[in-house]
This record gives sequence, structure tokens and C-alpha cells, in this order.
Amino acid sequence: MAFLLLLLLSSLPSSLSSHPSVSATPKLLTKSNNTVHIEWSGVPSPSPLDWLGIYSPPDSPDDHFIGYLFLNSSPSWPSGAGAIHLPLSNLRSNYSFRIFRWTADEVNYRHHDHDHNPLPGTRHRLAVSGEVGFERAAGPDQIHLSFTDAEDEMRVMFVSGDGVESFVRYGLEEGRLDRLVGSEVRRYERKDMCDSPANSSLGWRDPGFIHDGVMKNLKKGKKYYYKVGSDARGWSDIRSFISRDSGSNETIAFLFGDMGTYTPYATFYRVQEESKSTVKWILRDIEALGDKPAFVSHIGDISYARGFSWIWDEFFNQIEPIASRVPYHVCIGNHEYDWPLQPWRPGWSYGAYGTDGGGECGVPYSLKFKMPGNSSLPTGTGAPHTQNLYYSFDAGVVHFLYISTETNFLKGSDQYNFIKADLESVDRNKTPFVVVQGHRPMYTTSNEVRDAPMRERMLEHLEPLLVQNNVTLALWGHVHRYERFCPLKNFSCVDTASELKAGGAPVHVVIGMAGQDWQSIWEPRSTHPDLPIFPQPERSMYRGGEFGYTRIVATREKLTLTYIGNHDGQMHDMVEIQSCHTFQDNGGKVFVEPTLLWYVEGAIVLMLGVFMGYALGYLTRCRRDAVQRATWTPVKSEET
Ligand SMILES: *[C@@H]1O[C@H](CO)[C@@H](O)[C@H](O)[C@H]1NC(C)=O
Ligand SMILES: *[C@@H]1O[C@H](CO)[C@@H](O)[C@H](O)[C@H]1NC(C)=O
Ligand SMILES: *[C@@H]1O[C@H](CO)[C@@H](O)[C@H](O)[C@H]1NC(C)=O
Ligand SMILES: *[C@@H]1O[C@H](CO)[C@@H](O)[C@H](O)[C@H]1NC(C)=O
Ligand SMILES: *[C@@H]1O[C@H](CO)[C@@H](O)[C@H](O)[C@H]1NC(C)=O
Ligand SMILES: *[C@@H]1O[C@H](CO)[C@@H](O)[C@H](O)[C@H]1NC(C)=O
Ligand SMILES: *[C@@H]1O[C@H](CO)[C@@H](O)[C@H](O)[C@H]1NC(C)=O
Ligand SMILES: [Fe+2]
Repeated sequence: MAFLLLLLLSSLPSSLSSHPSVSATPKLLTKSNNTVHIEWSGVPSPSPLDWLGIYSPPDSPDDHFIGYLFLNSSPSWPSGAGAIHLPLSNLRSNYSFRIFRWTADEVNYRHHDHDHNPLPGTRHRLAVSGEVGFERAAGPDQIHLSFTDAEDEMRVMFVSGDGVESFVRYGLEEGRLDRLVGSEVRRYERKDMCDSPANSSLGWRDPGFIHDGVMKNLKKGKKYYYKVGSDARGWSDIRSFISRDSGSNETIAFLFGDMGTYTPYATFYRVQEESKSTVKWILRDIEALGDKPAFVSHIGDISYARGFSWIWDEFFNQIEPIASRVPYHVCIGNHEYDWPLQPWRPGWSYGAYGTDGGGECGVPYSLKFKMPGNSSLPTGTGAPHTQNLYYSFDAGVVHFLYISTETNFLKGSDQYNFIKADLESVDRNKTPFVVVQGHRPMYTTSNEVRDAPMRERMLEHLEPLLVQNNVTLALWGHVHRYERFCPLKNFSCVDTASELKAGGAPVHVVIGMAGQDWQSIWEPRSTHPDLPIFPQPERSMYRGGEFGYTRIVATREKLTLTYIGNHDGQMHDMVEIQSCHTFQDNGGKVFVEPTLLWYVEGAIVLMLGVFMGYALGYLTRCRRDAVQRATWTPVKSEET
């Protein structure tokens, strides 16, 4: 309070003299995500429409900001002075900040953002700050890991500003990173983008240089320490991961789709604020795991950058706390590439495909990630090929297969042949469970009519493969909700009994609830499509709109999938599948799974001992759910 008063008083003289000014300190930041302090004063007759534009590069035209904040986000704004603290991502180019006055009569609803909110006008610029940059030795960032095709390797990718020769130093002891590998470098250019905004001066920014290093000859299931960078441009902090262990009898994964990005400013597209919670809870879980290996699976609609280059930078910085510790695996979603002239666009896609990729046509997705396998399709523009389409790997007791619902998967296609051969070659003694993942769902009870032709083809061409090969789970995104089905075959529950002798019907689960908020309604009654009544068919066992993620914990005997809600970080649905092909369903009720005790009620367990802990965890969680259900953050939908 005293501080505020002081600020008010100190700003008074300049405010009277009405020489608006804005400054940003420090001028040099040492690392990405460091905070810059932006202060202004002397703004005459302050108005709630006065705003701060964020620019990088610093000489961008006034209407080419990367984002903006209204000055009234600072409590002292009515005095004409104030301050905003902002963490900055290293965009490999300096920043500057500008203050504008925007008047009510200049509000132009035709110049608007994704939500049809008018974009602030730039006619009256009041002040410009000095430049803020990052130290030359700030080190690379956007560090993320992934599996390769070899069990004893771990890939690490990162970004530098100038592609300087960079390395990965790693070892089994934090104080002795005695092994060194180089990195391959690649990048993409503005001409590789297929349409606007990705290829326009509004959306394009230099994406930097993408480094790709592979740590080799790793011992199984050991904690490795590593850092990336160079003596010339600095090194990252030391990170650690647990190496792959093909002999492991436990598998842990965090899975979701459609997460998107949080930015501390408004921009041309709506960003996904909820993604912050998703990352927070997953990080909690990873920390609780100790020395157990795990990985993340993000099944399409990754950053929602949609042609605004810097959103990719923000995304990779946001996931770095998890992605630099566990492999981060992806498959392609419509928002990574969707473009009307896509040369590999399947015939049935017309109607479902549009411009969701913002002109990126899959290029950033294909270069910023490198997944196992070598699936690729020409982009057709001279740009790098579209990659990371389909691949698989074993993690402990589960075989994971990633597919592309966006490219041809019909009988006879390369992808179909890959899926068929892959599923038929699974050694069920080694991996008793098989999990298939793709972006657009084969089953949903959301009213996604545009995708109906695609679903028909998935049912005709892919479902028989999943059924015949006894796939355990099929996970999908695209629909921004959680929905779990019974074990399905051609829309019918193979069995809803709790002790099922399953002959290959996968449990389908839609898990696109990690951050993006828009979603169409559930399917209304076919006889009364005009009434807001959305019957839940028998095959849909649990459906909910809360943001969150899912977690798989599998042992040789049993695979458990749980749905964790972001409002409390706790479990709200779960399904267990026995490896002897029996199936158990708890009907959507919430209870504790013993193997998962590490993630909640840890304090209680420590205080009261394991058995009391179980009981208490169970009881308190049930009560809390009942109380807090009303405060869930449902996804935005046409229902409300
Ligand atoms: C970036 O900003 C810093 C701090 O103001 C300045 O020292 C540096 O010269 C700027 N870099 C360029 C390339 O202009
Ligand atoms: C962006 O791509 C579109 C479609 O190919 C093209 O018409 C346009 O000229 C390009 N814009 C720029 C600035 O290159
Ligand atoms: C996993 O289980 C198998 C069979 O029960 C056993 O032979 C093996 O040693 C176990 N592996 C580990 C890492 O515990
Ligand atoms: C950025 O800094 C904030 C505040 O220090 C911290 O909470 C957050 O986790 C950091 N984000 C990343 C991606 O490191
Ligand atoms: C990569 O492609 C070649 C054929 O072009 C194939 O023989 C090879 O097995 C593929 N590698 C992987 C890891 O899929
Ligand atoms: C799926 O079910 C529908 C309606 O019950 C039936 O007409 C169709 O033949 C079935 N398809 C297959 C492949 O069994
Ligand atoms: C699938 O499960 C059924 C029933 O348990 C079994 O008869 C069949 O051999 C299995 N198929 C494969 C490919 O594992
Ligand atoms: Fe999608």
C-alpha cells in the first residue's frame, strides 16, 4: 500500500507535465522467462483503453505487436503512471514496448481477434521504450526430449539464435558430465510457409535454429544428467531424465490432446490459459515419481500457434519443465497443418479441412519435433516434408502406436500397411497391452458432424485392425472433452460386465480436454435436434467437460487409465483393464488406486501410515468431489 502511494506520488510531477514515457528494465536478461519491469508515467487523462504493445523485433510496425496488455492491469493506472511485470520468452531478437491511446470512436469491429474482440488501434502512440535483449550467453532453450528407434538412446532438441555448433554433455553424475555429442541443425524459412498469417509479416518471425542431439549407449533405467549449449553461447542449466528400460514391468505415461499455450499477454488468437494448470499438475506427478521413467503423449493440436510464429516459442518454453525431464511425444492434429491446397489431402477430407493451420502447412510441427520412425509426405511447396505422421515404440509393458488421422489411412495406403504390420508384430508376452493414439476420434458423442465422413472411414478401415489385434485402448483428441466408452466394436459394447473375457475390443477414450476451450454441443436427440437435450448413449460410460489430462499406469497384470481434473489435480474417472483380457469398469465412480498413491494425499500417508492413508485418501477425496463439482471449469460450449 505504502509502495503504491509512493508510486502515485513519485509519478505525479511527470503526469502533470504530461510527457508520457515508458521504460523497461533490466536492459539485458540472462535467461528466457526472466521478468522485465515496464514502467510508464505522464499519461494524460488516463483511459481504460490505453494499452501497452509488446514488440519483437523492436522495430516492428505499430500494428505488428506480438501481444498487448491494457494499462489498467496496473492498479495505479488512473494516476497516469504504473508498472507491469512480464516474463519474456527469448525470441532471439530484442524487444521494445510502446504505449498507445485508443479511443472509443476508433474501435473497429472489423479489425478483430479470433474471438471477434476488436484489436487495439495504433493511431495515437504516446511513448516508446528502449530495447530489452538477452545476453549473448543466455544459452539455448525450448529443450525437449523424445525416444528414438533405439532403446539405449534419448533425443534432445533445443533452439539457438544463430545455429552455432552446439553440444549435449551428459553423464550419470551431476558433477561429471563426461560424455559429449554434437547436434544436427536445421531451420525453416518464411518461404516454406504456405499461407498467411504464417508467411505474412504479421505472423512470421525468425524461428531460430533447431538443434537435435542424440545421447547414446545409455544404461537401462538410470538417472542421467545433461546440459545443452556451447562455450560460445552458454549452456542450459543441468537437467536429468530416467533412461528407457525395456525390461521394466511398469509403465507410466501422461496423455492428452489439444493443450495449446498460455501467454502472459493477449494476442491475435485466443490462447489456452488452462494449459498452465495441465503442465503444473503433470509436473507435480513427475516430481512424485522419483526415479521411475515416464513420458508425455500430446496427441495433436499442439501449440495452436496457427501461423503466429512466437506462439511456438512460448509453447516450448511452457512445456520445458516437463519436456526436459521426460520424453514428449506427439502426433499431428488439424491445427498443425490444415491448409486447403495440401497435396496429400485425402479425398474424403473435403468439408472437414479448412485453414486451421494458419498457413504453417505442417512445417514447424515437422521440424521442431522428431519422433521415431521415418514417415513423411511431401508438402508440395519445396518446403520440408511433413513428418512425424505414424510410429510406434514399446515402453515397459505397453506397446504405443501413434497414427495420423489427417493423412490417408485407407486400405492399401502406406499408413494402413504400417499400422497393420505394426499391430500384427506386437509380442504380447513382452507388451501385454497395446495403446493406439490419433487426433480425430473414431467415436465421440459430441456433435462433430463435419468429421462424420472421416469417422465412417476409420470405422470401416481401421476398427477391424484394432479389434482383430486385441488393442487395449484407443485414445483420441480433437474433441475438447473427456469421454470414455465401453470396449467397442461397430458402436456396440462387446460387454459391459465388470469381469469381461475380452477378445479384442478396445476401450475408446477421448482426451482432448488439456487446454483448448471451444467445443460443439453433445449430440442432441435425432428426433428433436432443436431441443437442448443430450442423451448419453449406453456405450458412453463417462463424459465430462472439465479440463485435465489422463495418466496410464500399467503393470504386467493391469493397465489403469485415470482422468485427472485441473480444478483439484485429482482423479475423476478411471478404467482398469486386466492383461489376461479381463476388463473392469468402476462406472465413473471415484476411488483410490493403490499403485497411484504417490500423487495425492502424500502428506496424509506420511503422517498416518500407509493403511490409514488409503482410507483417508478415499474418504476425503469423495467428499471434496461432491463439494467442488459445482466449481469445475467446464469447457466453453454452445450448451451454455
Ligand atoms: C538489444 O538491446 C540491448 C539492450 O538495450 C542493446 O545493448 C543491444 O545493442 C541491442 N541489440 C541489437 C542487435 O540492437
Ligand atoms: C503467402 O502465401 C499465399 C498463398 O500461397 C500467397 O498468395 C501470398 O503471396 C504469400 N504471402 C507472402 C507475403 O509471401
Ligand atoms: C519383470 O517381470 C519378469 C517376469 O515376471 C521378470 O523376469 C523380470 O525380472 C522383471 N523385471 C524387472 C526389471 O523387475
Ligand atoms: C517462468 O518463471 C516463473 C516465475 O519465476 C515460473 O513460475 C515458471 O515456472 C517459469 N516458467 C518456465 C517455463 O520455466
Ligand atoms: C525407414 O524407411 C525405410 C524404407 O525407406 C525402412 O526400411 C526403415 O525400416 C524405416 N525405418 C524405420 C525406423 O521405420
Ligand atoms: C455395424 O452395425 C450396423 C448396424 O447395426 C450394420 O448394418 C453393419 O453391417 C455393421 N458393420 C459391420 C462391419 O459389422
Ligand atoms: C485376441 O484375443 C482373442 C481372445 O482372447 C484370441 O483368441 C486371439 O488369438 C487374440 N488375437 C491376437 C492377434 O492376439
Ligand atoms: Fe483438432
